[in-house]
Amino acid sequence: MTCIDNDWWKQAVVYQVYPRSFRDSNGDGLGDIRGVTERMDYLHALGIDAIWLSPFYPSPLIDGGYDVADYRNVDPRLGTLDDFDEMVAAAHAAHIKVIVDIVPNHTSTEHTWFKAALAAGPGSPERERYIFRPGRGDAGELPPNGWKSTFGGGAWEAVGDGDWYLHLFAKEQADLNWKHPDVQKDFKHTLRFWSDRGVDGFRVDVAHALAKDLESRPLDAWTDDPEQGVVDGDNPLWDRPEVHDIYRAWRQVFNEYEPPRFAVAEAWVHPDHQWMYASPDELGLVFNFEFSKANWTADSFRLAIEEGLDAAERSGSTTTWVLSNHDLPRHPTRFALPQVPSRVHHQLVNDWLLRDGTTYVEDRALGARRARAALLMELALPGSVYLYQGEELGLFEVADLPWDALEDPQARMTAHGDALKGRDGCRVPLPWRAADPTGAFGFSLPAEHAAPHLPQPAWFADFAADVEEADTHSMLTYYRHALALRARLIAASGSAELTWAPMNGGDAIAYERPLADGRTLTCITNFGIAPVEAPQGELIMASASLEQGALPQDTAAWIAR
Ligand code: NOJ
Repeated sequence: MTCIDNDWWKQAVVYQVYPRSFRDSNGDGLGDIRGVTERMDYLHALGIDAIWLSPFYPSPLIDGGYDVADYRNVDPRLGTLDDFDEMVAAAHAAHIKVIVDIVPNHTSTEHTWFKAALAAGPGSPERERYIFRPGRGDAGELPPNGWKSTFGGGAWEAVGDGDWYLHLFAKEQADLNWKHPDVQKDFKHTLRFWSDRGVDGFRVDVAHALAKDLESRPLDAWTDDPEQGVVDGDNPLWDRPEVHDIYRAWRQVFNEYEPPRFAVAEAWVHPDHQWMYASPDELGLVFNFEFSKANWTADSFRLAIEEGLDAAERSGSTTTWVLSNHDLPRHPTRFALPQVPSRVHHQLVNDWLLRDGTTYVEDRALGARRARAALLMELALPGSVYLYQGEELGLFEVADLPWDALEDPQARMTAHGDALKGRDGCRVPLPWRAADPTGAFGFSLPAEHAAPHLPQPAWFADFAADVEEADTHSMLTYYRHALALRARLIAASGSAELTWAPMNGGDAIAYERPLADGRTLTCITNFGIAPVEAPQGELIMASASLEQGALPQDTAAWIAR
């Protein structure tokens, strides 16, 4: 009899697939669903528990698919529903669960609802599913207020008949009105649609933005842009208390299934508020982005870990640990900029690195060394770990993409020159094969194929999966080894307990965890210049060689006793 673990997601290692850039099976230059199926052996060998697919739904691809035109279908460029079913079957046969992305804050302006709203005109019931408001000025020529889009520019778009609609992201992503029963009903339908197809869980995009208060005061009384991350519950757009009613309703849907489905919230909220999204009567998990925002110092990571553990305890669930995803500069690059002052937020690092004429130099040996150490620190923590495709190859950010190749609306919506190049540098198609005469590093399978949708740099040859598979010292081999040990010794203990170890403090982080074989693991990471003596016990794995029993700077180790 198979034993079903309803709580598998609480300690899982999840691998994020960004489908357009994972593998292209039909030669159109865009990765697709079959590309994922074809690489299931690779994913199995990596030792992950689940894959999370970023959106693969029909979409004009204005924001990499986070502009969904039809929530219950597959973009024809990425495959069909049959391809999706085959992919799920292949994943399950390999004991890999499948998580899909749900984008409930906004639809593409190509969605049938939005097209109907435009056609129906001001005051129509069709417009009520979105957030349309009359403009200010004699002829409605001014936006209802000065709110800004997250990607740059104003958050209101005029439709030519006096009305404007709200878009917190690109203008092709119209915000939905979550007070509308059609919206509530349709998303439950979508959750059931994918659950019925065997999907095991969901990632909820911008989970903290769905409930909005546009009624309690006149829109033009808002002089400032409401800042994210405030905790007073008084923000009209972000992290409002009513958002939790939506997720309590979703929980009812998740519990219709056996095992119950779960979701992980993408909620960039104050650390004190994270836990609410993860509570058992809501989604189950929330991303702990403090970990991905931490600078390379012991204090910064210790605080992020404490905040994550605190959120887990308050929610009665576990937390998540993330170093990279499709929105962040790849972490080996973030860690490879020794000159950048540690107080600088990682988004600024992206800005400074990618801005033309930057003076910051990427020290790749340093970035790789720190990335290895960070992995051990991350994998031994209680909770679930979210990896981003390509991090197992040790990929760095592709910082020098030409402006005219960029796809991210962030780049389009800010002007050139002083602009952000956006997030494409971590979304470049993966290198599978170093020696590929077609020049696509094995990303596109057919011999005749279109160019990959973002250009791959020549240095990808050194990071190709086939090269790393054959190299016992590669990042890929290192990830496989660490993930296997985590599964066998750490996750298998079934415990979420963590105790800070005596040598924790100063420039080192050290914590203890129970191991499945009854021993205790100490995970120690040294960020400082001075070597730190390793605790007594058996060295299970280290990110770099110890020197006379001590961990040099930027080294982590797992020691059992
Ligand atoms: C968060 C997603 O991760 C990001 O890629 C997207 O641009 C925004 N939400 C808008 O959907």
